[in-house]
Amino acid sequence: MTAPTELELIRPDDWHVHLRDDAMLVAVATFTARQFARAIIMPNLKPPVTTVAAARAYRERILAAVDPSLAFTPLMTAYLTDDAEPEELARGFREGVFTAAKLYPAHATTNSAAGVTDVRRLDRVLERMQAIGMPLLVHGEVVDHQVDVFDREAAFIERVLAPTLERFPGLRVVFEHITTRQAVDFVTQARPTVGATITPHHLEFNRNALFEGGLRPHFYCLPVAKREEHRLALRKAATSGNPKFFLGTDSAPHRVTDKESACGCAGIWNAPVALESYAKVFEEEGALSRLEGFSSLHGPRFYGLPVNGECVRLVREPTAVPERYPLAPGDVVPFHAGRQLAWRFAGVTRPG
Ligand code: DOR
Ligand code: ZN
Repeated sequence: MTAPTELELIRPDDWHVHLRDDAMLVAVATFTARQFARAIIMPNLKPPVTTVAAARAYRERILAAVDPSLAFTPLMTAYLTDDAEPEELARGFREGVFTAAKLYPAHATTNSAAGVTDVRRLDRVLERMQAIGMPLLVHGEVVDHQVDVFDREAAFIERVLAPTLERFPGLRVVFEHITTRQAVDFVTQARPTVGATITPHHLEFNRNALFEGGLRPHFYCLPVAKREEHRLALRKAATSGNPKFFLGTDSAPHRVTDKESACGCAGIWNAPVALESYAKVFEEEGALSRLEGFSSLHGPRFYGLPVNGECVRLVREPTAVPERYPLAPGDVVPFHAGRQLAWRFAGVTRPG
């Protein structure tokens, strides 16, 4: 079979993205909005988005940062703290402001200091979320410093996720940005109300990339990339056609000065090349025909939302990725910086 020169997909959604705030929001939002119809917006701002009012205001700021002709819908999330109130979450969900709530274990990652110190503190919240069908999105890493950083996701499954799912058998859960074979196996065997997002970067490189000829801060994200066997398990899961696995970029911009530092920030900004990056992986796996399920069908099905009406086009055309983008808040290095990709995003096509 000859390789296709063009791909048309139902317009995808990004089920996990960091759009930041202020000047960075204004600089980066369009990169996500031009490809994706909807996106689950992470709430780890300073201060975090914990209330319905804060989420409404943030949603307005996002919409103001994006050209309305892009027809982009931000889906907001609540940042869970030890003091999260079931009624506030339920009200936000009822009023169509919160699509889901995000569990950050305290100190697990960027702006997670206000996160949850012990998941058992969330019993009332999770009970309510289970009752109303509000999805729980989890950053799945333990923060126990006794646990090796590369083992923190696997430990989270055993210590937190599995027991929580047992206590709340009807809770809808998305295990975000999975990085291990253990997470793939766990989600595959779990009930249908458990899904997972997979990032383009965890499909692309393993932990060696962090140390290739020197320390490489632009490959640092959390959860950190693992061994090759885990990357291969992720590629298999993403391209399997299993509806539990869907697209979530975890695009997380930081200024280059915050990355190239004695204590560099975690996060990879992949929004400028998100679909191109996934297309690369699916093509390498001989699974281009399964890209649309992963990018555009499985997520809406999990969230109980309609599939998008528009389509997007990718064309086979060598595309050079800039080394940096000079954005207003400072330069940001994109995923695949300085490399050439085989696919180029060629825009949204609207029916009729
Ligand atoms: O690499 C990451 N960056 N992982 C996260 O969990 C948070 C994100 C960020 O906000 O920068
Ligand atoms: Zn994230």
